[in-house]
Amino acid sequence: MESAQGARGVALSLWGLLLCNVLQDLVSAAPAQASPEMPFSVGQFWHITDLHLDPSYHVTINRTQVCASSKGVNASSPGMFGDFMCDSPYKLILSALKYMKDSGQQASFMIWTGDSPPHVPAKEISTKVVIDIIGNMTSTIRSFFPDLQVFPALGNHDYWPQDQLPASVSEVYSAVADFWKPWLTDEAVSTLRKGGFYTQIVQPSITSPPLRIISLNTVLYYSPNDATRNITDPANQLEWLENILDLAQQNKEKVYVIGHVPVGYLPFVRNTTALREYYNERLIEIFRRHSSVIAGQFFGHTHRDSIMILLDKKGKAVNSLFVAPAVTPVKSVWQVDSNNPGVRLYQYDALSYSVLDLWQFYLNLTEANLKNESDWKLEYIMTKAYGIEDLKPESLHEMVIQLSVPHSKLFPKYYNNYFVSYDGNMFCEDHCRVNQLCAIQYLDLTSYTDCIGKEDKSQYE
Ligand SMILES: *[C@@H]1O[C@H](CO)[C@@H](O)[C@H](O)[C@H]1NC(C)=O
Ligand SMILES: *[C@@H]1O[C@H](CO)[C@@H](O)[C@H](O)[C@H]1NC(C)=O
Ligand SMILES: *[C@@H]1O[C@H](CO)[C@@H](O)[C@H](O)[C@H]1NC(C)=O
Ligand SMILES: *[C@@H]1O[C@H](CO)[C@@H](O)[C@H](O)[C@H]1NC(C)=O
Ligand SMILES: *[C@@H]1O[C@H](CO)[C@@H](O)[C@H](O)[C@H]1NC(C)=O
Ligand SMILES: *[C@@H]1O[C@H](CO)[C@@H](O)[C@H](O)[C@H]1NC(C)=O
Ligand SMILES: *[C@@H]1O[C@H](CO)[C@@H](O)[C@H](O)[C@H]1NC(C)=O
Ligand SMILES: [Zn+2]
Ligand SMILES: [Zn+2]
Repeated sequence: MESAQGARGVALSLWGLLLCNVLQDLVSAAPAQASPEMPFSVGQFWHITDLHLDPSYHVTINRTQVCASSKGVNASSPGMFGDFMCDSPYKLILSALKYMKDSGQQASFMIWTGDSPPHVPAKEISTKVVIDIIGNMTSTIRSFFPDLQVFPALGNHDYWPQDQLPASVSEVYSAVADFWKPWLTDEAVSTLRKGGFYTQIVQPSITSPPLRIISLNTVLYYSPNDATRNITDPANQLEWLENILDLAQQNKEKVYVIGHVPVGYLPFVRNTTALREYYNERLIEIFRRHSSVIAGQFFGHTHRDSIMILLDKKGKAVNSLFVAPAVTPVKSVWQVDSNNPGVRLYQYDALSYSVLDLWQFYLNLTEANLKNESDWKLEYIMTKAYGIEDLKPESLHEMVIQLSVPHSKLFPKYYNNYFVSYDGNMFCEDHCRVNQLCAIQYLDLTSYTDCIGKEDKSQYE
């Protein structure tokens, strides 16, 4: 069932491992010392998320008319590549994919963590429009990367009405199962059709252990999802997840968990999980218990760039979690700051699948619109930016300790990266800083509440 792309897969994975030779001619902005002698056993994969195509985007004199996603508000400074009040013009998405393709980077696969349709009122779209846009994004990605295996996850906007993804079959699940067939096994397509989630071994595994992707439908647990309210285990995904993790352990596999809405606490507000608290607690408990097979977790949804570390009950870091920033630059009218468009490349140890590094790329949207030219650049390399050795849980833990030092110079850097170098007043102290630091380290209610209490005391007393 998992051999459909056998021979081609071997070639692709080899390419992924041979990337080191071509890594150097990446981008002019890359520091010369970036991975000069990368070992043979390093692989790479791309991560894109929150594309949010707005097909209505067009530059016009009346700024309320530029895009449906500004919802009647004036666009701020509309140009060829978009506007901070609008979701992505098609041209912006094309520029991102073209940059990735032309970068010369060899990746063994890509993860794509959801949210293709624009932020518009429910009455302006429909199930058909949602399906058309996901189909469009699927073909667009495939047209740039015809031979790359892509592992998608569903987002809260990949449904009509938004957020209401059901715990059983639906027209959308069925449509994406058809769209994503070229990338997935029959078994994965079958669970996708039934509940919007799947698992699959990254083919082929020419090194041992094998790498397994688990693509969770975390929107089933998303707080605004009324379709799953009061259901203990929507679509039996939690039970399924535990079974797959047990199986992975028995087979000595390693797992990457991918999903749209992240677990844990939101870094920009106090005491708020994106998932319903009950589901968050259950997921954290499952992830703690199975942390030894999980080599990384990857999410989107917040549109911002952040990390989390999962600590076990004794306070030891056992998992690294990454939230990648969006391609869309959109913000709501009540938000002061937004994010520049971003795409990301991870490096991993091809034997243990530990995450070694990440390269965050971005487009300075203001500059791109001024020049009518999309000059995507490297924003930062995580190990270099934060002075750590790799992105394993212990190393991220070290990084967080450094971020937490009062007046640390690293924290403003983290906060600037959080908004993908958005040109705003990046000031985050007191409450803002505590919210960020507690959300990074404490993913369950008890430890999070404890952190907020402690931090507030030390800061204000
Ligand atoms: C801009 O468009 C809005 C919405 O259609 C309309 O109400 C407004 O009168 C227009 N403004 C101008 C200056 O044409
Ligand atoms: C949009 O900008 C125009 C011109 O500055 C202004 O007249 C109009 O009131 C603004 N519309 C909204 C909805 O803010
Ligand atoms: C995707 O949508 C864009 C913008 O509406 C359109 O120009 C393009 O032709 C569509 N592509 C596909 C493959 O549907
Ligand atoms: C969920 O439970 C609450 C409280 O028991 C009840 O008021 C509500 O109607 C239930 N909702 C659904 C969708 O079953
Ligand atoms: C945080 O939220 C939880 C549940 O929503 C609540 O029980 C708790 O009292 C809140 N804590 C604070 C400090 O607001
Ligand atoms: C983005 O471009 C604008 C306009 O050229 C510039 O003012 C700003 O400093 C740039 N931001 C970054 C992070 O380079
Ligand atoms: C960019 O394109 C716009 C619209 O076509 C045009 O008005 C502007 O002069 C162009 N700017 C540059 C620097 O070419
Ligand atoms: Zn989104
Ligand atoms: Zn989302």
